[in-house]
Amino acid sequence: MRTQVAIIGGGPSGLLLSQLLHQKGIDTVVLEKKTKDYVLGRIRAGILETGFVDLMREAGVSDRMDKECFVHDGAVISFGDTEFSINFKDLTGSHVVVYGQTEVTRDLYDAREALDGKIVFNTDNVTIHGADTDTPFVTYTTDGTEHRIDCDYIAGCDGFHGVSRQTIPLTVRREYEKLYPFGWLGVLSETPPVHEELIYACSDRGFALCSMRNENLSRYYIQCSLSDSPEDWTDAAFWTELKRRIPAKYAERLVTGPSIEKSIAPLRSFVTEPMRWGRLFLCGDAAHIVPPTGAKGLNTAASDIHYLYNGLVQFYEEADREGIDRYSEKALARIWKAERFSWSTTNLLHRFPYQNEFDLKMQRADIDFLRDNREAQSVFAQNYVGLPY
Ligand code: FAD
Ligand code: PHB
Repeated sequence: MRTQVAIIGGGPSGLLLSQLLHQKGIDTVVLEKKTKDYVLGRIRAGILETGFVDLMREAGVSDRMDKECFVHDGAVISFGDTEFSINFKDLTGSHVVVYGQTEVTRDLYDAREALDGKIVFNTDNVTIHGADTDTPFVTYTTDGTEHRIDCDYIAGCDGFHGVSRQTIPLTVRREYEKLYPFGWLGVLSETPPVHEELIYACSDRGFALCSMRNENLSRYYIQCSLSDSPEDWTDAAFWTELKRRIPAKYAERLVTGPSIEKSIAPLRSFVTEPMRWGRLFLCGDAAHIVPPTGAKGLNTAASDIHYLYNGLVQFYEEADREGIDRYSEKALARIWKAERFSWSTTNLLHRFPYQNEFDLKMQRADIDFLRDNREAQSVFAQNYVGLPY
């Protein structure tokens, strides 16, 4: 088989790139390790920046999103006994939208299938060959048979545990990582959201987040120990703990119900440099991870896709390599800022095991400054709605 761009990974990054390139007549093949149902079963991000929404529009897959998403002009922050709202619209003129990653992925699969896009599921042993030569190719097996795809370029969109990043030699690759001493326990329930805006809360018992997917689907998280497993938490124990961490007025009106999904995600900050090696480009979680506190994971994946897509179009339409040559530099410049925001909101809103009285006072002073200072809120809001591409 031959294609112009071989895409490894059929998550949101890989599908969005494939769909965007298709609009420009550039041929792709997507290789996905799992089944479509498995990919759609993963409950992950819920908040999209307007940059992401614009890319979905450019890809021609925004009809359902435009109808069903919720526009959020602000969010609530609560810390101990203080609570305030940050109004993104007033401070930046922009907003974010609530539309789940599951729905984004479903819309992209539907669009690729309607256009006969080539997606191969259940691929094993995906291996990248000759990425630093002019004749790269990818091999993989399905049902025990080996296949080969020759291509011009390879997009490594295969997430944190994929093969693409590992293909870049350690003499070239540099990794930066910070692990946090806690995870997030997430619950999805068919109940109305407790409030129309998201609530980011920090109490003496730790962090909690009240989010949503639609008017009858809520997503809640609580900070938990890394040694916990979802089975350790009954639904009743989860709801009791969540209520203890959010302001009483919300706890009193919280509608609880059976969880339809419950999972734990460890928190990590991670960046690999460079994001390009020869004809291989890393995108999304394959290159970087943020703790979810700033809702930046999926949104940083989208900015990578924006830079790579434009670079590839510039190459195929104008024979100009400037965009792809500067891909890593442009993507990383934005990534590091999103890393900084995600790291700082994580520090601001979680209880850390080694915090002493002084650290707690510093955290409280940071919160009070944010509550009382319009410029500080403006900086928060600019980061939350998304920095420009
Ligand atoms: P992925 O979604 O990981 O997709 C990569 C795809 O590649 C997968 O389908 C995988 O099966 C496939 N793959 C892997 N290895 C191979 C291989 N060898 N060959 C072929 N295919 C392969 N972000 C937020 O903003 N908010 C959240 O609440 C949030 N929660 C998260 C919870 C969890 C548990 C995780 C892991 C992430 C979460 N994120 C969240 C981050 C966000 O979901 C990711 O940033 C986003 O999924 C990145 O998309 P991606 O396409 O780059 O990677
Ligand atoms: C979510 O709805 O899953 C969500 C929202 C905001 C975050 C993280 C996760 O910061």
